[in-house]
Amino acid sequence: MKYDINDICDRVSKKLKKKRYMHSLGVMYTAQALAMKYEIPIEDAAAAGILHDIAKEMSEEELINYCGKHNIYISQAEKEAPYLLHGKAGANIAKKKYGVNEEHILDAIRFHTTGRAQMTMIEKIIFVADYIEPGRTQYSDSETGDNNAFCAIRKEAFTDLDRACALIMKRTIDYLKSDKSKHIDSTSMEAYGYYKVFL
Ligand SMILES: [Fe+2]
Ligand SMILES: [Fe+2]
Repeated sequence: MKYDINDICDRVSKKLKKKRYMHSLGVMYTAQALAMKYEIPIEDAAAAGILHDIAKEMSEEELINYCGKHNIYISQAEKEAPYLLHGKAGANIAKKKYGVNEEHILDAIRFHTTGRAQMTMIEKIIFVADYIEPGRTQYSDSETGDNNAFCAIRKEAFTDLDRACALIMKRTIDYLKSDKSKHIDSTSMEAYGYYKVFL
């Protein structure tokens, strides 16, 4: 065992609010199931899943300060929408505080919010697990009123992971476009540009 997942869960449960911890657990279990299906180490998926939102409860100001202090590059899109930094800050916390040293696990945490072009298997698994974990129900009604589309993505995740990524990106971008006050960052658009061929 590279990681003591029980110990990490214990620590994360003390760090995050209950609702966010339950979401993190949901992402961990879903990522473990996807790791079984797509044959990557289950433990890596578990570590990335439980830690992916470890920086989500930092304020925008804290995220910017944290990244500045740790020499983490802040893009223009991240300056405009600092919550996007919780992936990068989270990866740094996973490394420094939770002893995760493997870059592929850290990248899965780093890019879980926007996704990116040419994701590795574990990156795709965390990106998708974050969207479909069992606790997620809000997509069904409030976003599009279409529950079937959401159920279809859950199924697709276990059939064709690239297509599941494309469906999630399309849904998110369509939703953001429908609300003029919402911001679409360039990494998300770039990622969708790459994955839309799988639709
Ligand atoms: Fe997140
Ligand atoms: Fe999340």
